[in-house]
Amino acid sequence: MSKKFKIAVIPGDGIGKEVVPEGMRVLEAVGRRFGIDFAFSHYDWSCETYKKTGRMMPEDGIARLSDSDAIYLGAVGFPGVPDHVSLWGLLIPIRREFQQYVNLRPVRMMKGIPCPLAGRGPEDIDFYVVRENNEGEYSEIGGRLFVGTEREMAVQESVFTRIGVDRVLRYAFELAQKRGKHLTSATKSNGIIHTMPYWDERYRAVAKDYPDVRTDQFHVDILAAHFVLHPDWFDVVVGSNLFGDILSDLGPAIAGSIGIAPSANLNPERRFPSMFEPVHGSAPDIAGRGIANPIGQIWSGAMLLDHLGEGDAARAIERAIETVLAEGGPRTPDIGGQAKTADLGKAARTA
Ligand code: NAI
Ligand code: MG
Repeated sequence: MSKKFKIAVIPGDGIGKEVVPEGMRVLEAVGRRFGIDFAFSHYDWSCETYKKTGRMMPEDGIARLSDSDAIYLGAVGFPGVPDHVSLWGLLIPIRREFQQYVNLRPVRMMKGIPCPLAGRGPEDIDFYVVRENNEGEYSEIGGRLFVGTEREMAVQESVFTRIGVDRVLRYAFELAQKRGKHLTSATKSNGIIHTMPYWDERYRAVAKDYPDVRTDQFHVDILAAHFVLHPDWFDVVVGSNLFGDILSDLGPAIAGSIGIAPSANLNPERRFPSMFEPVHGSAPDIAGRGIANPIGQIWSGAMLLDHLGEGDAARAIERAIETVLAEGGPRTPDIGGQAKTADLGKAARTA
């Protein structure tokens, strides 16, 4: 009675190639316990591929991924290829074509990880950042005029659609309903006077359908300060593409190493595959040395299983991570040890 899932695997660049195999081994180990089979298809799309072919992925790349149940990605981007080329050549097309309009990032302080905030611990830091992942400030609309003259100018438009704003707000409200029934919205309606008041207006309108959820909003600048000063205030935090991007790096940073943090790019309607990847990038400064922390990748595998309806298997991975970190298992240098990527990976799949 085993279930079978088709997973597209894109290790990408740098430490992506080192942590993805560990994540896959953990998925296979937990799959054996829970009767889940994975059919992995590998894609070598990366900055190396770009240098050979002039493309981050082939022209029919999106079509090739489209019949997968999920996409498991390492990291994309490496010195030698400009970041906007690698990002817009691979990651952003996948997020948009597959309408992965929710970028979900848990911010959870794990026992055994030193907290960068003095006097805070696992009981204070446990929330989710929900980032709009398809529109907003990340847009291709704009351009330059009068290039090379003293009148030179650059314009970039933000795009906030009712469909785009409402659907991510609804996702955040529904997540809050399943948790502590408290949602915080990031705004900046004092400085950005068209799109942000619109976002706030939709927030108030959508909130009417979720009367059991307590709502808050803050300008994003003071909200960033509250993440540091009062992380215990938050349950679910929702923001536009840019604000969510920034907050969802700050979140994992206050919870310890960026090497631990996972993320999901979700198409909640499941019309298209969703994509799971650690928050961190390709870490060129440590790539090739076998010392990258694989936990962010492994935890992203738990989010993948959750999305596929395998909650028990997902919880098993989370518990294994907690056990390894809390009970003095091997630690990579970023969390204060000397262990290798493979040591920590092995500990996680045997915990
Ligand atoms: P980064 O996350 O790659 O590295 C930042 C710092 O964190 C580095 O000191 C690195 O050594 C450390 N670090 C990251 N992950 C780690 C892990 N698993 N274990 C131990 N230490 C870890 O961010 P950076 O340096 O800004 O970007 C490097 C490249 O990665 C760029 O090309 C960037 O565009 C790309 N990138 C890709 C992302 C993605 O694929 N979603 C996300 C962030 C960056
Ligand atoms: Mg980011």
